[in-house]
Amino acid sequence: MDTNELLRGVEAAAREAGRIMREAEDIRASVTAKAGHGNFVTAYDRRVQAYLFEALGALLPEARFIGEEDGADAFTDDDRRGFAFCVDPIDGTTNFLTGFRPSVVSIALLRDGTPWLAAVYNPYADLMLTAVRNGGARCNGAPIRSLDLPLRDSLVLFGTAAYNQELAPRTFALCADYLARCIDLRRTGSAAWDLCQLALGTVGLFFELRLQLWDFAAAGLIAMESGCRLTDLDGKPLTWDGPSSILCASRGVAREDYFPRA
Ligand code: IPD
Ligand code: CA
Ligand code: CA
Repeated sequence: MDTNELLRGVEAAAREAGRIMREAEDIRASVTAKAGHGNFVTAYDRRVQAYLFEALGALLPEARFIGEEDGADAFTDDDRRGFAFCVDPIDGTTNFLTGFRPSVVSIALLRDGTPWLAAVYNPYADLMLTAVRNGGARCNGAPIRSLDLPLRDSLVLFGTAAYNQELAPRTFALCADYLARCIDLRRTGSAAWDLCQLALGTVGLFFELRLQLWDFAAAGLIAMESGCRLTDLDGKPLTWDGPSSILCASRGVAREDYFPRA
């Protein structure tokens, strides 16, 4: 299948998933807890994932499928051969059940173990961010570039890695460190959306101490294709095979401002 046709198919699936989210009712009534502090799942997370499993499977039958609600959080050697979808049906579940916005659909297609095509859809603002490796990043079809300003003139986003409370002291030490070197901090509640904000050029830097592959695979490709640098917090390249810390900065952030000093 031609790449554009595949991307259009992935976008259509993400839109339909977004429709299921927008039309959701009685969300809190369908909540159950997962392992980890404040880690919830709703009937809609499962419903959206089941829909995407069918829709993406029909689009590219040879591709393997890793979804958050399946439980496994690392890629096997088989997943790293050929095509594999890595999907977070609803990134920002706590936002979704409280009504705080946004929550997004995140779909990455990996090829031989690295992200190759991606779509992140915010159904509340009708924003579809996409990327194909080496093809640039787009929002609703228009090319996008990350911000070209120094850190001191930028906002910084962070995630709290809330399911791993032992990471809180380090997270907030990093907040104090970056706060002293940027305009101010923000927290959206969706790591995929945080990375999309880098791609859209609204913020200069994002960090979180622990994310799962489905949180960052799609939006990570979109951020890189918009010109961002993306590594783990030690500056190492991502291995795209399981959980990782994430550090991402826009084009304008100097190397000496990229790394934490705390
Ligand atoms: C979470 C969100 C949140 C981030 C967490 C993620 P979920 O994903 O991306 O912003 O701080 O680390 O797990 O559980 O809402 O899909
Ligand atoms: Ca997530
Ligand atoms: Ca999720």
